[in-house]
Amino acid sequence: MTQEIKVALSDGVLIATLSRPDKKNAITNEMYGALADAVARANEDDEIRVLLIQAEGDTFTAGNDIAEFAAQATGNGPDERHVLRFLRALATATVPVVAAVQGKAVGVGTTMLLHCDYVLLAEDALLITPFVNLALVPEAASSYLLPLRIGHARAFEMFALGDPVPADAAVTWGMANRITGVAELHTEARRIAGKLAARPNGSLTAMKRLMRDAERLVTQMDDESAVFVERLASAEAREAFMAFAQKRQPDFTKIVRQSSRPR
Ligand code: COA
Repeated sequence: MTQEIKVALSDGVLIATLSRPDKKNAITNEMYGALADAVARANEDDEIRVLLIQAEGDTFTAGNDIAEFAAQATGNGPDERHVLRFLRALATATVPVVAAVQGKAVGVGTTMLLHCDYVLLAEDALLITPFVNLALVPEAASSYLLPLRIGHARAFEMFALGDPVPADAAVTWGMANRITGVAELHTEARRIAGKLAARPNGSLTAMKRLMRDAERLVTQMDDESAVFVERLASAEAREAFMAFAQKRQPDFTKIVRQSSRPR
């Protein structure tokens, strides 16, 4: 069992903490597995009334572990991609989910927030979706949820250019609820989760179910996943992963242009 996801239950709140700060909490397949188990537990255990996702260190998460992306690109990936199990569980979560975000939230670090019900940002939070920088496509149903949440123009720019969105813009655009100080983040998130845990849970979970079309989200994830797997094996993605490993900028200009066609 990985030590890089810590799970603790306290007064009806299940707290899942990303704990790989030396690698900026980059998420491995094993960590996705532990996160998926935590969400599944929150869905099944009647003692759990709220799920809180948080992270140690100065970065919420650097997103998917890029070394593992590179392994998948060359056919050396894991038998089961736990990320899909995690994202499906999150999209169909019955209990309210609170997220506490400090520093950079890259890739899935941002897209998972679209499935959370209360997002608390530290004042240094930066939301970044660099899928196209890595020659990939958005996942976690974010190709559907992000334009819905913040409008096509902003979502296109976030996805296509991968520029960081600071905390104040994220709140103004409706991607998060509130901003707090870095030092207060976890205490404040725990307070909000406790407040939600004290609400009538039947009412809260029924309200959540009415607000989210889980079936639609899972369909979108399946569509994205098919394209994502194709992109992982592309020459463009290989160049992007190699450039990351070699700590240089990728050069996509020598790769023959490939237009995406409807599937
Ligand atoms: N996958 C694997 N390892 C990662 C990682 C990732 N997504 N992000 C960071 N790391 C590792 C680095 O390789 C480095 O390891 P090392 O100390 O063994 O060299 C360590 O974490 C620290 O990262 P570093 O880049 O030195 O920190 P930084 O503060 O300068 O930058 C980030 C932090 C998050 C901005 C930068 O690491 C980054 O851009 N990471 C990639 C993000 C990304 O594209 N994720 C995929 C999204 S789809």
